[in-house]
Amino acid sequence: MPHPFGTHVGVRRLITAAVAAPSVHNTQPWRFRLDGSEVMDLHADPDRRLDVIDPRGRALHISCGAALLNLRLAIRMTGHRPLVRPFPDGPDGPDGPGGTLLASVAAEPAPMPSLEQAELYARIPHRRSNRRPFGRRQVPTPVRCALAAAARAEGVLLQLPSPQTTAYLLSVLRAADERLTADAGYLAELERWTSLRARGDGVPRYAFGPRPSGRGVPMRDFGLAGPETGRPVDDFAARPQLGVLLTSGDGPRDWLRAGQALQRVLLTAERHRVSASLLSQPMDMCVGTRTGTTGHIQAIVRLGYGPPVPGAPRRPYREVLTRTASPA
Ligand SMILES: Cc1cc2nc3c(=O)[nH]c(=O)nc-3n(C[C@H](O)[C@H](O)[C@H](O)COP(=O)(O)O)c2cc1C
Repeated sequence: MPHPFGTHVGVRRLITAAVAAPSVHNTQPWRFRLDGSEVMDLHADPDRRLDVIDPRGRALHISCGAALLNLRLAIRMTGHRPLVRPFPDGPDGPDGPGGTLLASVAAEPAPMPSLEQAELYARIPHRRSNRRPFGRRQVPTPVRCALAAAARAEGVLLQLPSPQTTAYLLSVLRAADERLTADAGYLAELERWTSLRARGDGVPRYAFGPRPSGRGVPMRDFGLAGPETGRPVDDFAARPQLGVLLTSGDGPRDWLRAGQALQRVLLTAERHRVSASLLSQPMDMCVGTRTGTTGHIQAIVRLGYGPPVPGAPRRPYREVLTRTASPA
């Protein structure tokens, strides 16, 4: 088996998988660096951090963590296992030329990947944020258990809240959304990352989904910052099925771990043909979202069965990879 970093084709396959990860406002705040062909470094790109909703870089780390999970799965498919060193320079390590170093990834030969790993990898290009209304069908208990197990496998808790807790979460979401949408800084940042034109990042108009009516689920309205051209309005389900990802701490290591767990949950959902989208407005308020005894909320996921939706764009491969020596 050739080493995963040893050929152009192999490296391209890894990066293509990694960048298919979700990222806040589709900022794709990652850079990959290959020194020789032994270690691939994952850097956060500080120029792509959202100053208004993400001054601490929490969502940036979660986005990069999601890319790291994809990279790990892609390496696993090459007859190797990834050896990940998170924050080799420490969580507050210096910003190098490629941004803050989040993880160094090496690879060693390993037996065949498990069926689960192979199926999660196969779903990477099919996973997408689905901002359309979902049907009434409930996510069955075995699938809910599989989603919780996916988070647990990455050391993170996924709670599937009761109807009462869901109602409470929706009220928190609504209040956060109202505060954000009244903030000129938020709207200006949203405008920078939404677009009617084709480009390689940001949320394209075709992915906005219907305009939330203000009654049901407080979806983030990506269309707020641009001209409104007859998007339909929808309540979304009044009783959505939510999943809440929680970590015990609330620092860079927790965020990187939460990102890997989030992506594992999303790929597991996709494996069971369950649609998902995120609702992050309370975390955008940057007040810290600690719940009682269970930990810090890192992501709120809406789960259900929606219509197929197109994928969002990605930046070209050459923009995200730097290498100091060329493979064969
Ligand atoms: C940390 C994080 C927070 C996000 N928050 C939201 C959100 O509040 N609302 C939403 O609709 N999408 C949210 N997303 C999804 C991104 O907008 C989406 O991943 C990106 O536009 C790329 O599209 P894709 O997921 O279809 O590949 C979030 C993604 C991440 C990683």
